[in-house]
Amino acid sequence: MTTCPFSSSLLHLDNFTHGTPREAIAQLRAEQRIAWQEDEFAAGGHWLVLHKPDIDAVLRDPATFSSSYGPLLEDFPEELLALQRQAMTFLDPPEHRSRRALVDYAFRPGVLEARRAMMQAKVSAIIDAIIDRGECEFVSDVAMHLPIHVMFTLLGVPEEDYAYLVPTINTVTLANDPDYAGSREEGWTASAQMVGWAASFASKRRQQPAANDMTNELLSAEIDGRRLSDEEYGVIFQGLMIGGTETTRNTLSWLVYELIHHPRQLALLQANPDLVPAAVEEILRYRNTVVYTRRTAMRDVELAGEQIKQGSKVVCLLASVNRDPACFDNPDSFDITRDPAQTRRQMRTFGFGVHVCPGQHQARMNLDMMTREILARMDDLRLLEEPTHFRSNFMDGFKRMPLAFTRGGE
Ligand code: HEM
Repeated sequence: MTTCPFSSSLLHLDNFTHGTPREAIAQLRAEQRIAWQEDEFAAGGHWLVLHKPDIDAVLRDPATFSSSYGPLLEDFPEELLALQRQAMTFLDPPEHRSRRALVDYAFRPGVLEARRAMMQAKVSAIIDAIIDRGECEFVSDVAMHLPIHVMFTLLGVPEEDYAYLVPTINTVTLANDPDYAGSREEGWTASAQMVGWAASFASKRRQQPAANDMTNELLSAEIDGRRLSDEEYGVIFQGLMIGGTETTRNTLSWLVYELIHHPRQLALLQANPDLVPAAVEEILRYRNTVVYTRRTAMRDVELAGEQIKQGSKVVCLLASVNRDPACFDNPDSFDITRDPAQTRRQMRTFGFGVHVCPGQHQARMNLDMMTREILARMDDLRLLEEPTHFRSNFMDGFKRMPLAFTRGGE
């Protein structure tokens, strides 16, 4: 048997077969502020930042710690990097600001509220479709549908395109899992193809302008006195689709999983639906689905007592903050009675600084509405099998979670 030379590195994929390795993270965090970890990519390793003040220092200083090499541990192939550098995720200020302003408006409180009726119709339909069966595969029958419906509706994508886009989103996001991609390269290729698909969608929409949706807004907006190109639209489209779908579905699956494992908290929630926002905040903290985000040092700099060389990868372990006893009492206990405002301030589930997630309130609204519908209409939730984790060190979630239930009070 050969031993992988990088298996001691915390972010090695083999350490994530049952989700985020929380104990190993806790141990490393207790021992070190920042740890050098070998990896198989070009620079041969990365700095792993484990404590909130240091993570915040990195994320609030994009001039020193740039996003221009992307948020992943892996190095992007050159051509794809050039393409993605038009996307807000890969841009630093000041260029980042103009792209970001194009999407921020769509998630303001009033705009979110105007979406509620459309979302409620979908939430009801999702549960209608399974309620008489007594069993479901929760991820594909329930959790994935609302986030996808919201993003497709916002961007005006017709239903017939789901068949291409939904599996493609999985291939791009979960390319290290053989169930979604034959190889890592297949994931990179799918990413470039998805941007190309969205660019041609933009071109068609320019010829036949349709409803007053986000695509319309993006295509008529101006940055630096000019319209977005089709390709620039394509990378924004991809960022929204990828950011807005997998993350939210994983969080809902984790919430149902934890409630099944904490029956007293489930009973409390059923008796007090006013606790739903606190339960949502707690699952966002306890099972944060985006494990880390990466930056790249643009100059030699000292960080957490270490000399970081220009060009080094600096990986902010968001999952570490959310279970840090310096940030939360009893961080490893799932407790829906925590003060949600305090949890929201302390956790780093949505990142921090200029790239902090623009869709976070949309995500909370999706999770809140789905949770209320599940509590009202489904009783006696039971796992039929242990859920299967996907193979990823970036995204924590389930591929499958077969459930049984009875029809609730309605
Ligand atoms: C539970 C759900 C979600 C989680 C955990 C999450 C997490 C994150 C994190 C950690 C970042 C920052 C990445 C970085 O600093 O490099 C981010 C950025 C982003 N997210 Fe989310 N997200 C969620 C839901 C959403 C939704 C619903 C949308 C869209 C509607 C969205 C769209 C985006 C976009 C476009 C960015 C890039 C922002 C920028 O670079 O300025 N996300 N998200």
